[in-house]
Amino acid sequence: MDELVSLCKRRGFIYQTNEIYGGLQGLYDYGPLGVELKNNLKNSWWSSMVYERDDVEGLDSSILTHPNVLKYSGHEETFTDPLVDCKDCKSRWRADHIRDNLCPSCGSDNLTEPRPFNLMFKTNVGPVDDGSNFAYLRPETAQQIFTNFKNVIDSTSRVLPFGIAQMGKAFRNEITPRNFIFRVREFEQMELEFFVEPGTDEDWHEKWVKKRIEWWENQGISRESIQIIDVPKKDLSHYSKKTIDIMYKFPHGVEELEGIANRTDFDIGSHTRHQKDFKIESKVIENEHSVTKLAIQNKKTNDWVIPFVIEPSAGVDRGVLAILNESYKIEKFDDGKERTLLALKPHLSPIKAAIIPLKRNNDEIVTKALGIKRILQDLKLGRVLLDNSGNIGKSYRRHDEIGTPMCITVDFQSLDDDTITVRDRDTMKQVRISCKEAPNYFQKNLL
Ligand code: GAP
Repeated sequence: MDELVSLCKRRGFIYQTNEIYGGLQGLYDYGPLGVELKNNLKNSWWSSMVYERDDVEGLDSSILTHPNVLKYSGHEETFTDPLVDCKDCKSRWRADHIRDNLCPSCGSDNLTEPRPFNLMFKTNVGPVDDGSNFAYLRPETAQQIFTNFKNVIDSTSRVLPFGIAQMGKAFRNEITPRNFIFRVREFEQMELEFFVEPGTDEDWHEKWVKKRIEWWENQGISRESIQIIDVPKKDLSHYSKKTIDIMYKFPHGVEELEGIANRTDFDIGSHTRHQKDFKIESKVIENEHSVTKLAIQNKKTNDWVIPFVIEPSAGVDRGVLAILNESYKIEKFDDGKERTLLALKPHLSPIKAAIIPLKRNNDEIVTKALGIKRILQDLKLGRVLLDNSGNIGKSYRRHDEIGTPMCITVDFQSLDDDTITVRDRDTMKQVRISCKEAPNYFQKNLL
């Protein structure tokens, strides 16, 4: 993990937040390369969830959330971790992170009994700060999908089965944030809530598990690094009938990357008004505040149905960490030299190609390189960088380390015969192609 953290900082993927003031625990910033990698991962998810399907709509809802949403979702009551205080060194720990009843910081056994600690952040809304006008920072993106259920149906005329996808920030006041961006207090989720007819939920659940494993493999996560866990009944969230966790072999151990839950009819059943008018299978809190009927009509039977929900819920930051870990390699050569390589799938690479002029001060070469950059950039496949550092060897090493799939060199011969050299990141092989071929070559090799 240390090598990865150091690469992330050195090359501009991820920095500790507010570092100049000593930092804030459990919070990170994505630098120039990190933001590209993260956006590429999110775009790939959005594309597979929304664009490549015809049964999913997108949504981008507010982060500040009405307390009633999180009351009826069950979060106010149950979204807690057991907390233990060390009476000697005053540190706080999640009870399940304590080993042998000893404080992990000072080793004391002078610990309090575990007590529940709610993980939601609250903030004041409006000018009066007397505690009565507060909102929560959403702890998951899912809830506003449920509260927008009727809006989306009304504006799209959807029938079951269909889904609503959302990506964005979620906030949890984790007691012990740890392991770099694995467990943080502000993170991003990519969540799909897929609404189905009751009775078809188990089939859909299986389909989504399969689909999600395939997607992670397409992001470069090898099947051998993944474990699939059927979450034991005692560990299920209050809304879940069955959850399958996709676990990844992170540098610090095997932990959850994504959960795919069968949330039953709990969510829509919790947030609808007139709950008694419907057959709701799960145990919901009696709703005294909702002003909207959240149900969908079965066009064949005309019955109003509270749908079951299948939810694939993935963490963006955990995805970034898994992908970085999976693609990070040190290659050793026969002559004793070595290189650091980030073998990212090209669609995730922060920079798609680096255009390198052989001589940084030669106007003709630099102008030609800039022309090629513009042509490739106009294809809108991601960032193409004019790298005019003047040292080709160093540029190659830097681009291997940040995962740039190809480096294109413009030299004196390019001026004579309109050709360029393309170096492949993984094989290090170089080919000479004509500039006219460049857009096709670029497109073909980025897929
Ligand atoms: N809507 C369901 C839900 O939020 P979850 O298992 O609590 O379920 C889903 O979270 C995903 O969000 C996890 O699989 C993980 O990838 C990510 N996640 C949860 N807590 C996180 C944290 N503190 N830091 C980073 N990612 C987190």
